[in-house]
Amino acid sequence: MSETTETPAAAEELSQPLTIGVEAYISEEYARAERDRLWRKVWQQVGRVEEIPEVGDFLTYEILDDSLIIVRTAPEEIRAYYNVCSHRGRRLVDTPPGARDGRGSGRQFVCGFHGWRYNLEGQCTHVPEREDWQGRLGDEKIRLGAVKTDTWGGWIWINMDPDCEPLLDHLGPAAVLLAPFQLERFRYRWRRWLVFDCNWKVALEAFNETYHVPYTHPEFIPFGAFLGWSRAQGRHSNIGYDAPKGQEGDQGKLRIGGGTDARVSTAEMQNFIWENANTNTTETLVEVANRLVAELPEGTPPTEVARYWLETARREDAERGVVWPTIDPQAVAASGTAWQVFPNFQIGHGQNNMLCYSARPHGYDPDKCVFEVAVYQLYPPGEAPRTEWLHTPPDDPDWRTVLPQDFSNMAAVQQGMKTRGFTGTKPNPYRERAVANLHRNLAEYMGTGEPRDLA
Ligand code: FES
Ligand SMILES: [Fe+2]
Repeated sequence: MSETTETPAAAEELSQPLTIGVEAYISEEYARAERDRLWRKVWQQVGRVEEIPEVGDFLTYEILDDSLIIVRTAPEEIRAYYNVCSHRGRRLVDTPPGARDGRGSGRQFVCGFHGWRYNLEGQCTHVPEREDWQGRLGDEKIRLGAVKTDTWGGWIWINMDPDCEPLLDHLGPAAVLLAPFQLERFRYRWRRWLVFDCNWKVALEAFNETYHVPYTHPEFIPFGAFLGWSRAQGRHSNIGYDAPKGQEGDQGKLRIGGGTDARVSTAEMQNFIWENANTNTTETLVEVANRLVAELPEGTPPTEVARYWLETARREDAERGVVWPTIDPQAVAASGTAWQVFPNFQIGHGQNNMLCYSARPHGYDPDKCVFEVAVYQLYPPGEAPRTEWLHTPPDDPDWRTVLPQDFSNMAAVQQGMKTRGFTGTKPNPYRERAVANLHRNLAEYMGTGEPRDLA
């Protein structure tokens, strides 16, 4: 545990050593119960607002037995419906084989089975030979079932529980502390998805702590310490780097390298991350880092290197129409590097780029999950690249080298947890508090799995 970071009051919560049973990860019964107790009750992020820019644009989202159509119904309105025809239950929109979801655009949904039609408002507008039902097929009986939707941070969120709390109440401190980052302005740089041989919680928990960095990613050791704190934030958690007093801003994503010459180590670190992860930085940040040795004298103190690097990158981005939000360094520090938004979405935010992960069950097999990785950044207006979800198996070279190091732990953890000799996880009470907090909150939904004191 770092002695240098001031520990905020919130850090006290869940700071006692805890242990978590394996039921939530490996039990088939638990995996089945998640459908009704968790997934049909909780807000879930299903895509970006800009993915359906025109009226009639839609995408589908699948979570266990439920498939939803998310459609733009008006320039400022997005709605979601259950993706099922009210006649005999055929899915209205099919997901093409091998695709992550179904997509399209139109003014109506036409069922391929018997031709019933639905408009964007979900009304059934055409039933062939409707008179055969002798007037009993009332409009309300056959409209598409609506699902709650809202937007925040540029994402579309859904909740299948008609009595759910408002999205902003659910997001709570995450929405407050992330507000200065203006996440709605970010656009995808790339996005990939795959299926892991592990539970969705195992996959998320490979990314919600810094404790693993020196051991899973030993290449990072020369660039400085990548260890950090973890805080319970009600239903959510956040993590950030430990930083010396006076360098509080270094708790966030955009931080300089360690060692004797921060000019050199920052450049080396930026090049390494750009080439081997293609996340957590941008071309501008890399370019400016590569000029630090030429533009700053030897012996420049680390805080000055950090200031120069970020101010120069900010200015050069602004010159090409990429305006970073201006955020108080204390707010950067308090927000950390990533938020674990309950239950299954991680936002790894920064001033000009972002790395997000989602995980969800892949059927009822507790040993499988769908995992998604998306990298975002700020672009000049209208210049964001066109991207789509690319299915990318874990051994595909397009993942480069860093993320596959994380992937290599997934199935090994899942299998290890099933061993008779394993007595439950024992997350680090300082660095892995997000793990304990996830299970504390899951237990409220699931009625089982509460972390216990490590006696
Ligand atoms: S199931 Fe859709 S029209 Fe028959
Ligand atoms: Fe990692």
